Amino acid sequence: MSEELDPSELGTQEYWDTAYRLEVKNFRHHGDVGEIWFGEDIAERITDWVNKNIPKTNQILDVGCGNGMLLVQLSRMGFTNLNGVDYSNDAVVLAKDVSKHYGTDITFAMANILNTVGTEDFEVILDKGTYDAISMSTNAKEDREAYISNVHKALKTNGLLIITSCNWTKDELISHFHTRFNVFDVILTPQFKFGGNIGSVFSSVIFQKK
Ligand SMILES: C[S@@+](CC[C@H](N)C(=O)[O-])C[C@H]1O[C@@H](n2cnc3c(N)ncnc32)[C@H](O)[C@@H]1O
Repeated sequence: MSEELDPSELGTQEYWDTAYRLEVKNFRHHGDVGEIWFGEDIAERITDWVNKNIPKTNQILDVGCGNGMLLVQLSRMGFTNLNGVDYSNDAVVLAKDVSKHYGTDITFAMANILNTVGTEDFEVILDKGTYDAISMSTNAKEDREAYISNVHKALKTNGLLIITSCNWTKDELISHFHTRFNVFDVILTPQFKFGGNIGSVFSSVIFQKK
């Protein structure tokens, strides 16, 4: 198991509550949906993979959905059973506002993934940046373990977790998840070359429930 990250304010609920309180105001005043974490290109790579590989009627959950834009995009691609949860109430308010604005039919609710998000309810779970945030809490090791256990529990047999991180490499993610998940696929992300080493800024791995 790799070492833990340094704790950061991004690992606290206060940070996200403050951020989304402002983003709700911005959306209502200027129609700005707020931060697209990791950028449009990464979001597009994830939704393209889902579009090519997942049946349109599968039950899909986005954990730590933020403004809900990943689900809005999937809805526009024809997916019909879309759900988002976030532990920040204002993220849920924002996601509902944004979804209404785009005329999409998505269910959003407040939930803390470290408690529970269901039992064998979903074929697919999406995570863009949420495991990263959890990895920066002051209780990161226990929180990461609770996350892995709850996501595993919420997936149906052979269900898929599509996780995208900017804090962990592909190999680190695999070392965290391998006891409960097999690697199903990897979404290619842009690479950089520095001093003869090739690396990726983002890692996007699809794990299948064992
Ligand atoms: C980096 S943001 C990413 C938001 C969204 N996935 C996106 O790509 O725009 C991390 C998100 O995880 C949420 N989050 C962090 N810890 C959580 C937890 N324990 N349960 C539910 N949501 C959580 C935060 O409120 C925030 O919306």
